[in-house]
Amino acid sequence: MYYRHVELALLAAIVGLAVSAPTAGKQTPFKAYTSSFASVLGSSPSIEVLFNITQPRLHEGAVYHPPTHSLFISTDTINDPSIANNASAQVLVHVTGLNTSTPTYNILSELVSALPNPAGGIRYLYDGSATVDLIAFACAGSMTQPGGVFTLDPYNPTSSAVQALTTSYGVYRYNSPDDLTALSNGDIYFTDPAYGVYNGYVPDPTLPNQVYLYSAATNTTRAVADGFGRPNGITHGPDGKTIYIGDTGASVGNGTIDNEGPRSTYAYDIVEYSGQSFLTNRRVFAMPVIGAFDGLKTDTMGRVWGYASSGTGVNELEVWSSGGELLGTINLPGEGGDVGFGEKGQVYAMGGNLLYRINVDESVVGTGVLSS
Ligand SMILES: *[C@@H]1O[C@H](CO)[C@@H](O)[C@H](O)[C@H]1NC(C)=O
Ligand SMILES: *[C@@H]1O[C@H](CO)[C@@H](O)[C@H](O)[C@H]1NC(C)=O
Ligand SMILES: *[C@@H]1O[C@H](CO)[C@@H](O)[C@H](O)[C@H]1NC(C)=O
Ligand SMILES: *[C@@H]1O[C@H](CO)[C@@H](O)[C@H](O)[C@H]1NC(C)=O
Ligand SMILES: *[C@@H]1O[C@H](CO)[C@@H](O)[C@H](O)[C@H]1NC(C)=O
Repeated sequence: MYYRHVELALLAAIVGLAVSAPTAGKQTPFKAYTSSFASVLGSSPSIEVLFNITQPRLHEGAVYHPPTHSLFISTDTINDPSIANNASAQVLVHVTGLNTSTPTYNILSELVSALPNPAGGIRYLYDGSATVDLIAFACAGSMTQPGGVFTLDPYNPTSSAVQALTTSYGVYRYNSPDDLTALSNGDIYFTDPAYGVYNGYVPDPTLPNQVYLYSAATNTTRAVADGFGRPNGITHGPDGKTIYIGDTGASVGNGTIDNEGPRSTYAYDIVEYSGQSFLTNRRVFAMPVIGAFDGLKTDTMGRVWGYASSGTGVNELEVWSSGGELLGTINLPGEGGDVGFGEKGQVYAMGGNLLYRINVDESVVGTGVLSS
């Protein structure tokens, strides 16, 4: 949940389906900051526009489910009377047929009441006691339902199979959970900024804009990081020892950008004390060269992929090394949101009305995406 705007003017420049690798003097969406970016892009990077639709239905999530070759995306807030139960809500979009030349999408409107205003999602493969094959979503909540972390069955994405993992902290409802990341031990870290409040679909906040750890093993939730403006994108390194959290506090939520507000992404070490996980050694990992990171994911090489928006019509994917070095950027016009990996060498990014598939080197694989 971040800046909202529409900027399609530059799109024509990259719609040719096969955009070639960076060439001197030629306009390209790929911009290298270091020579090692070439090994990320591979020999023939390209950007495909899979959908260009009239409503802003393609915003966050981009959770790829390999066994069904499908993708789960959450919409931005839409107002559409054809949506069952509620004409104004965020819903899930299910893209299928990604292994074919004609993928299609379906709005899962039946889920509106079970998954109140979903935003970021992630594959969830271990629930603390057993192997599972689910998708976990951070849901902002609505006026009548608390938000929290919920799981969805990707083989049967209906409300009857939705489960709530956590929907309150003590006596408080969360502000409006936005994004999450799941470790292989079942731990789920999630961010809880108050953007749903500013967007008018949840009650006033009752908690700081902070980050929580839901432990599936104990079915308990602890606050693990605070001191943010508005924590937004969150991900973990492939070794499960580092957490990255993007602060989009500079976006105050009413369309205004506070130039002095926080926009850095912070890294933390996950350290055990007394048998529990804590986030320590908070450090500035990356200050995006445009805006702040809404979507945030890592690949198995430890690189951090952040989807940034300037708030003035410029969106790009920024690829950073695990050492906090900017490797390169990929310009993606649209109403930027989230990013997610697909099959080897495939990256999905949402542009509000647009779903992009960026084809890079086959060595690029998302953390936790293709596992089992
Ligand atoms: C997307 O749709 C808009 C509005 O119809 C149009 O201006 C634009 O050229 C389209 N882009 C692509 C990639 O089809
Ligand atoms: C695509 O994937 C689906 C789901 O796994 C499968 O049923 C279908 O046969 C596949 N189609 C092709 C062309 O591989
Ligand atoms: C519909 O959704 C909006 C936004 O989530 C919420 O404010 C409203 O209370 C909902 N209405 C009903 C009847 O559920
Ligand atoms: C987890 O705890 C919540 C209450 O905090 C409870 O409603 C829920 O049923 C519990 N889930 C499991 C799997 O025990
Ligand atoms: C947005 O919020 C900021 C900070 O509260 C305030 O200074 C600004 O006037 C608001 N802008 C609008 C258009 O409401």
